[in-house]
Amino acid sequence: MNDAVVTPWEVKGKLDYAKLIKEFGTKEVDDALLERIKKDFGELHPFLSRKIFFSHRDLDWLLDKYEKGEKFYIYTGRGPSAEVHLGHLIPWIFAKYLQDHTGAEFYFQYTDDEKFLVKGTENLDFYTNMAYENLLDVLALGIDINKLHVFVDTKDIGRMYKLALNVSKHVTYSTVKAVFGINDSDNIGKIFYTSLQSVLAFLPSVEKGNNIPCLIPCGIDQDPHFRLTRDVAPKLGFYKPAIIHNKLMPGLTGDSKMSSSDLDSVIYTTDNDKTINKKIMNAFTGGKSTVSEQRKEGANPYICPIFYMYSYLFEPLDDKLNEREQNCKNGNLLCGECKAELSSRVIKYLKNHRENREKAKKYVEKIKNNA
Ligand code: TRP
Repeated sequence: MNDAVVTPWEVKGKLDYAKLIKEFGTKEVDDALLERIKKDFGELHPFLSRKIFFSHRDLDWLLDKYEKGEKFYIYTGRGPSAEVHLGHLIPWIFAKYLQDHTGAEFYFQYTDDEKFLVKGTENLDFYTNMAYENLLDVLALGIDINKLHVFVDTKDIGRMYKLALNVSKHVTYSTVKAVFGINDSDNIGKIFYTSLQSVLAFLPSVEKGNNIPCLIPCGIDQDPHFRLTRDVAPKLGFYKPAIIHNKLMPGLTGDSKMSSSDLDSVIYTTDNDKTINKKIMNAFTGGKSTVSEQRKEGANPYICPIFYMYSYLFEPLDDKLNEREQNCKNGNLLCGECKAELSSRVIKYLKNHRENREKAKKYVEKIKNNA
């Protein structure tokens, strides 16, 4: 039995990604597609070769266009409900790779409205302020700010509202109910919100006066919004956005996803060294209960969030990753050692990230004051 739930507002249970491709009706990122991406962009990001970006819609169509010289733009976003954690960085690091290899413009949406509507806190300003806090994390990755277009929904609504209305006119209540699991006691803001998430899939085409292909890198949990976006697109005369979906970063407690609803499962970019170390050293692993058992039988990297941290973000070299996998399975590598090494890599990475965040503060102040 698999009782996994994957919607933009709830992810729970054990995720079976092959099954999600079937259920959602998306396509696998297969080797033929990878070959093509390598040819077109010049290099494969490890997120691709390791199938962390594992599923897509119409990416082949987008590459057809790109190969004919038609530029695309990148669109992704963030619901600013709390600090950013390592799992959130995946689509943004990928967006930087896309930007570096294609020069694409990058549209980024902060949905303070969405989080206000779906979360408990009654103070809307909390989410708006968090949007600017979270923007520091995107900038810290080295995104080209001359090609970055930041939208904070409650601030930029004037530029977005007309399109949101046009989208909403083509979306029925029964569709929203079915897609998002809305029920009669939910607030009415939630019903409308998805129209806002469609806006940036079309707005650059409206503002430039001609249709521009759009590529959305995002967690697979966001797909329901964009199914709806893609249904509406032809009715409004736009291209359907292409999408490439990433797997969600496993939580340190052994859950399928890092989530702020379980503080021990996440590492925030703003965590201090001591906290990072503590969370990693206390994490669930695929190890055995005693050292002698593990030396004899080996451990299981495929259920281990520590191994996934290496594979997602902290071991760029394939050889080294394979070696770690083998040494885990054959009992040469014990969990304590593997964790300690990861901890020092994460601490180093986030020290650098936090320095970059500091440097980005001036720019964020400027955006905030212009809003
Ligand atoms: N709904 C997303 C979230 O909760 C935020 C978001 C808005 C987004 N637009 C997006 C995510 C585009 C991915 C792609 O985090």
